[in-house]
Parts: sequence; C-alpha cells; structure tokens
Amino acid sequence: MDLKLAGKTCLVTGASAGIGVGIARSLAREGVRLAILARRRDPMEALADELAAETGVRPVVIVADLMADDAPSTVQAAVQSSLGRLEILVNNAGLSSKPEPMAPDDVWNAGFDLKFTTLRRLTNAFLPGMRAQGWGRIINITGIVEPYATSAALTACAAVHAWAKGLSRDLAKEGITINCVPPGRINSEQIRSRLHPDPAVTQRYIEQNIPIGRFGEPEELADLVTFLASPRAGYITGTVIPVDGGMSRFAM
Ligand SMILES: NC(=O)c1ccc[n+]([C@@H]2O[C@H](COP(=O)([O-])OP(=O)(O)OC[C@H]3O[C@@H](n4cnc5c(N)ncnc54)[C@H](OP(=O)(O)O)[C@@H]3O)[C@@H](O)[C@H]2O)c1
Repeated sequence: MDLKLAGKTCLVTGASAGIGVGIARSLAREGVRLAILARRRDPMEALADELAAETGVRPVVIVADLMADDAPSTVQAAVQSSLGRLEILVNNAGLSSKPEPMAPDDVWNAGFDLKFTTLRRLTNAFLPGMRAQGWGRIINITGIVEPYATSAALTACAAVHAWAKGLSRDLAKEGITINCVPPGRINSEQIRSRLHPDPAVTQRYIEQNIPIGRFGEPEELADLVTFLASPRAGYITGTVIPVDGGMSRFAM
C-alpha cells in the first residue's frame, strides 16, 4: 500500500526513547521529513544519525522540556524555521504515574500537566498552520483508561480522549483528523525500568492481563500511527484505537 506520506512533515515528541523512537523510524522509512523532540539530546542525535544513514534524510533534533511555559511557542518556531510547515503532529511524550489516589496536589498536577496540558497547548500552537493549509494529522499516544486503580496519568489520558473527540468534530471539515492510540504494555524504557523491573512479577502480570501473552514492541504501535498519519486515513477521526494485545476488557 502506498501511504502517500513521502515529503510530508512531522513532529514526534518523546522521541529519545521507547515508543517515540519506533514511531520516528516508521515515519522516516515512509519518506516523512521529521523533527524529533525530547529533553535528552544524545539519544536523539544517535537516532538522527541512524535515520540519516538509512534514508538519506536527517531528522531535525529539538531539545525541549514540554513542561516549560514557553515550550509551545519555541517548539513551533523551531519547527517552522527547520521544516517550513507542520502537517503531522504525534503527541507521544509522557510518563506513566503510579496509582496513588491520595498523592499530593503537586504529584497530581505534574502528572496531569505532562499528559494533558502540555499536549493540548502544543497542539494549539500548530493548529493555525494546519487550518491555513487545510490539512493535518494529530495523533495522541495516550494509555488504556479502564481503571482498576487511579493515577494522574490515567485520568489525564481520559481527558485527552474527551478533548480529542470534541476537537475532531470542530476540525472535521478542515481536512484535519485527530485520533488517540492507547498502548497496553509496549516494551520501552519506562516500562522496563519503572513499571516492570522484576521478570517474575512481569510474567505473572502478562498471564493475568494480556491475552496475546507478551508485551508489544514499539514498531507494532508505530505501524498504526504511520497509517493514521497518512492521507489514506482521512476518513478516520475522533477515534481511540488501542494497541494492547487484547488487554482492554471492554468493547469500545
Ligand atoms: N509503553 C507503554 O506500555 C505505555 C503504556 C501506557 C502509556 N504509554 C504512553 O506512551 C508514551 C510513550 O511512552 P514510552 O513507554 O515510550 O516511555 P519512555 O520510553 O519513557 O519515553 C518517554 C518519552 O517522553 C519524553 N518526555 C518525558 N517527559 C518529557 C518532557 N517534559 N518534555 C519532553 N519530552 C519528555 C522522554 O524523553 P526525555 O526523558 O529525553 O525528555 C521520552 O522520549 C507516553 O506518553 C506514555 O505515557 C506507554
């Protein structure tokens, strides 16, 4: 299938590790001109070198903390000056937070800001350009929101789903789609180091929760994101499509 992505421009946030790296690789292989963003420069320079060697085009590296007040305007300016215009925005940066209902406000606010507010503000910075060009793709990497406990990240993901659904209706006639992709358990830095450091406990978790019987790999989620980013997915908007090995229990 020709995804008709060659030459399109895209920003992938959270592209120094895990799922974001997989998404950047997949889009670069389709000929997308990329900007990759995170706080750590070295892993992004290594990824940019790898993709330059493979595809002949080096992604633009943007070092930024999305929690900074001025991040939306500085990132938008960096993308504008390097890529010219932005057609695809992949909001992937984020971190899971531990289920902790009575955590203090600073924990809740930081978790909510990272997964919801920074994403909403960054999207707003790019929306005028997408509207002016009459075409855009926004894809949010969220998280499964079938709570067995509560946390800031999970609650923020539910907010992203509701916000994206509303926005999809506002934007539908303007050639701009917005969709959410919640991972179940995808092998990544935070999953290995923070959530599942113990192999025996991990195996029990898999047996109890993941019908397919393993964690997914970043490229398994990246393939869906790449399709949603393409012109071929123009009739798909306002959706939440999990990539989770059957982990979610409820029909959508
Ligand atoms: N993997 C899973 O199974 C899973 C499950 C549910 C949800 N998710 C969601 O999927 C997304 C990707 O997760 P992952 O598992 O690939 O995590 P990861 O390996 O820890 O990668 C997270 C990325 O986000 C970036 N990031 C974090 N805070 C940032 C900030 N303030 N400003 C800019 N960049 C920031 C990190 O880069 P720096 O540290 O260099 O800034 C890194 O590139 C996240 O939104 C996560 O919540 C993943």
